[in-house]
Amino acid sequence: MNPIEISPAEFQRVCDRVLKIAAEYLQDINARKIPPEERGTELLSLYCSLAPETRMGLQAIPGLEDVVRHSRAQNGRFFGYVLGSGDPVAAATDLLCSVLNQNVTAWRSAPAAVAIERTVVDWLAQAMGCQNFRGVLTGGGSSANLMALAMAREAKAAANERGVRADNGLAIYASSEVHMSIPKAISLLGLGRENLRLIPVDESFRMVPELLEDAMRRDKDRGVTPVAVVATAGTVNTAAIDPLPQIAAITSQYGAWLHVDGAYGALAAIAVPQKFAGLGQADSVSLDPHKWLYQPIDCGCVLFRDSSAAQRAFSNSGEYVRTHTDDPIEGYAVFEESIELSRRFRALKLWFSLRYHGFSAFRKSIEKDLLHAQRLGESIRRESALELMAPIELSAVCFRFIGDRSSDELELNRLNAAILRRIVERGHVYLSNATLQSKFCLRACIVNHRTTDSDIDGVTKEVLAATRDVM
Ligand SMILES: Cc1ncc(COP(=O)(O)O)c(C=O)c1O
Repeated sequence: MNPIEISPAEFQRVCDRVLKIAAEYLQDINARKIPPEERGTELLSLYCSLAPETRMGLQAIPGLEDVVRHSRAQNGRFFGYVLGSGDPVAAATDLLCSVLNQNVTAWRSAPAAVAIERTVVDWLAQAMGCQNFRGVLTGGGSSANLMALAMAREAKAAANERGVRADNGLAIYASSEVHMSIPKAISLLGLGRENLRLIPVDESFRMVPELLEDAMRRDKDRGVTPVAVVATAGTVNTAAIDPLPQIAAITSQYGAWLHVDGAYGALAAIAVPQKFAGLGQADSVSLDPHKWLYQPIDCGCVLFRDSSAAQRAFSNSGEYVRTHTDDPIEGYAVFEESIELSRRFRALKLWFSLRYHGFSAFRKSIEKDLLHAQRLGESIRRESALELMAPIELSAVCFRFIGDRSSDELELNRLNAAILRRIVERGHVYLSNATLQSKFCLRACIVNHRTTDSDIDGVTKEVLAATRDVM
């Protein structure tokens, strides 16, 4: 027997032990402090070891218990970053996904997986008001954004064969609140970060369409090629939604590609579709089920209106992968419409979790997140020592400690950074930060199916307690 081969009975034993650890983690997740006790060097020294030469078998299991102990607990008081809370039902199917080990390159490699991915992508497109869009699942919002801009570049300034050529230059437009994955994609695609025009935002952190139009007109007069406009539906700092219909009209007038980065916010369209009017006018949309559909990482998605645009950007296939059938279903090759070749069966967890809970449960959970954000906003407004720093459009709440308002901006920035460090250290609540108009803010992103009203009510108390500690 191959030394790596195990019997089904041993597999069952391994699974039982792993499952027990996972269930115990979930059992006391809410009682746990969020960050682990150990600091960086301690953790590194715990794990820094020689590669094991001989078999440990089930004796390796306690190592997994240590990993749980050293991991950040994602309980109902975790509001850091834009991160979904990880539906355990979906997590359970991740095991099956790995056991089946389907390589979702093409229908012929993974027939059921391809059919299921097409189905869930279609469900998401319908829910977003993007009827007839196609799409693929991705590792996350950053790779979805990269793929969208690759399609835009190939559609508007084809570069796959001869590299980027634009005699009078090219431009990409996004608001000054754009997520960092967009400039990163622009640089990776050889479009040049200097060609990203950052359009100013209004007092609600939404792109100002008139200023977009001014920038596009100026560029047109100079012969610059407009490659893409990136609107954001849920900015990373404040979850602002750019005015999509106006931006769509301007983008189409200047013949650019319209991409909507909806990695944070767009899935909230399941609960509040009226906030996302115009999403269906995009050429491409990024979504992140591992954010606002609470899926375990990784699960992103890029939707596109025209699959031939995806094929123009990504079809670059060697003879060894060519499919030998004209059947439109069995001949479908995901790699012709995606960056990836070998791909995980990401759709399984999403498909199962959506079927297990039903879309209505997700709608209610998103609605609850939205209400929790408003509830937190109310408790901040009631507290004179705290200041709300941006309108609460979806579920990001930006605020800061201002005390009796006698400190200057520099001092407030320093103080709020110290408060954030102390909140994280105390471990009861986890917040992250945002800088708005040069002001350091505490930020709660509420994308968490575990959060209760009392978790929300504890946030301001914890902020004030941490403030007392640092003052
Ligand atoms: C607006 C926006 N776009 C893109 C991303 C990147 O998504 P991911 O972390 O899945 O790569 C994020 C992440 O928070 C985001 O908020």
